[in-house]
Amino acid sequence: MKKPVIKYNLEISHGTSYGLEEAAALLECLKDNAPSCGKKVKQFEEEFADYCGVSFALAVTSATAGLYLAGIAAGIGPGDEVITTPISWIATSAAFAALGGVVVFADVDPITLNIDPQKIKEKIGEKTKAIVPVHLYGRCCRMDRIMKIADEHGLIVIEDCAHNPGGEYKGKRSGSMGHMGVFSFHQQKNMSTLGEGGMVTTADRVLFEKVISYRSLCCRIYGDSQKYLSIDEDVYPMNRKYWWMHFDDTGYNFRMTDAQAAVGIEQLKKLDENNRKRRVLAEALTRKLEGIKGLSLPGDDPEGNHTFHLYVIQIEDDFPVNKTDFMWELYTVKGIKAWSHYMPIHLTGPFRKQGHSEGECPVAENAFNKYVTLPIHPELTMEAIDYMAECVRELGKG
Ligand SMILES: Cc1ncc(COP(=O)(O)O)c(C=O)c1O
Repeated sequence: MKKPVIKYNLEISHGTSYGLEEAAALLECLKDNAPSCGKKVKQFEEEFADYCGVSFALAVTSATAGLYLAGIAAGIGPGDEVITTPISWIATSAAFAALGGVVVFADVDPITLNIDPQKIKEKIGEKTKAIVPVHLYGRCCRMDRIMKIADEHGLIVIEDCAHNPGGEYKGKRSGSMGHMGVFSFHQQKNMSTLGEGGMVTTADRVLFEKVISYRSLCCRIYGDSQKYLSIDEDVYPMNRKYWWMHFDDTGYNFRMTDAQAAVGIEQLKKLDENNRKRRVLAEALTRKLEGIKGLSLPGDDPEGNHTFHLYVIQIEDDFPVNKTDFMWELYTVKGIKAWSHYMPIHLTGPFRKQGHSEGECPVAENAFNKYVTLPIHPELTMEAIDYMAECVRELGKG
């Protein structure tokens, strides 16, 4: 098949875009010989922590690495159960499985597709150690209910904020509501640090010290950790005191580079405006799609601040074509790259091998037959939104 020509920039591979500000920041960094985890990383961490309203932020190589470190900090080990959603990118579950944790899937709300707090409650058992809600597509989970459940059972909450830097729920920023938050700066996300990157946030010093200890190989540092935050050079004075004798475990290399952080600082400055553009585009698209029979739209978020990382609709049974045909037609005929986020994690190969199967999360499984991601990113024009709405409306006529 000849590859279709994508029209009006209607693909979803643009999470964000870079400008002259990022280019200038990179140039400055090159003048400094583009170090590993240096002063730019520290500045990025401080500004990101401030932005989220937490005391600590730690820059890492990806959200997957961040989730892994958060899992270590939460004390997840072999046999410990972690309750999370079946609808997310597989990294949300894989990070905990890699630590030997047992992933338990709690079904989702059929409208928002976010994890359902009631279903979390039903899955809590003696071995449960943590809850990992994902603010799916950019809409925050019902964090007040989730935190109440966690408090009642003494569980750690790790927010997966990969989809919503800058998102809010009842006035609180994502990454500040759980015990830890984990962000992704992959190229498709609302902000990026040169294609890959991530951040762990927390208000808890003890958790932070654990996370920072494992970011660098052999880096369990005793004493006043405040002196040693982020800048590896700061550890230098310890060299003279044989600081490596104080390690009590091996760690990893999940350090972000200064070049990535320099770009991240500029991206953070643009985040609110880019999120605003996403919202304006999403609201316009929703208005234009309203009234099409058999289509469920994402709707607004009265309790929060949807960051529209992804714009996801559901193709109901009374729509003239099914999900597969809908996506195929949009791509091949109209030049619009629609997608399906995501394959329910419990039905993926690695989790089937662990005994998960159909019927475990019926709401998510049913939704999988219906959800379609339409392109949304700050570079889209209103002309593109008009075109997309027109194409969908046409398909709705059968
Ligand atoms: C919800 C969610 N969590 C975690 C991740 C992993 O992010 P990263 O690619 O930075 O490891 C992703 C990436 O797509 C994601 O969508």
